[in-house]
Amino acid sequence: MNTTHDHLEIITHPVARQLLTRLRDQATPPPEFASTLTLLSRFIAHAASTHLPLKEISITTPLEPTPGVTLAQPVALVPILRAGLGLMDGFLALFPHAAVGHIGLARDEKTLLPRTYLEKFPALLGPRIIFVLDPMLATGGSASHALKQLKLAGAKNLIFCSVLAAPEGVERLAQDHPEVPIITVALDRQLNERGYILPGLGDAGDRLCGTLDM
Ligand code: PRP
Ligand code: URA
Repeated sequence: MNTTHDHLEIITHPVARQLLTRLRDQATPPPEFASTLTLLSRFIAHAASTHLPLKEISITTPLEPTPGVTLAQPVALVPILRAGLGLMDGFLALFPHAAVGHIGLARDEKTLLPRTYLEKFPALLGPRIIFVLDPMLATGGSASHALKQLKLAGAKNLIFCSVLAAPEGVERLAQDHPEVPIITVALDRQLNERGYILPGLGDAGDRLCGTLDM
């Protein structure tokens, strides 16, 4: 598989890689999976926001006036339900004033196509930097659909933030949304015949919500 995307960034921080290993481990139970994903989301939020544009402002310290900076654009967060909710805390820690939208997508197990069950976006998406959150980029169908819907609603500055990406998903976004940066912690080997990422971490939504079959 030819994995090319002009804006693919892989987070190599050693602590992030260690956290990912805990997520991959099938012995990690849902409460620890959720808390580990929360910790990892801080690294992802940091990496995804490294290049945000700034504008200059003037403020006054307790001692004197001084120039400073603030983010040039407001931020919005859009988790893809369910698993994307697991990435929210790290982003909210950095952007507590972000507007939050939601898109609910469930991937059909046979066709692997996403089915929408919720779409609620903030108003005035155009000027915002929008972080789209989903730990898993597998076929790329869900991510591509979410990005398309956001663009239809007026979004212009989108950054897709994940934990694991498959080459197939990266390729899909390179085709459908080549200008959208992808931030991830690992680029895995391939998809299996059921569309799961290998080696992967399993079904992120089920592991986060404790809804795995017993
Ligand atoms: C998972 C995952 C992504 C999607 C990735 O969600 O969180 O949204 O699959 O697969 P794709 O790249 O092939 O579209 P799922 O549909 O299982 O829903 P869930 O988060 O509620 O478990
Ligand atoms: N969705 C998941 O949660 N995991 C995969 O491996 C693929 C899609």
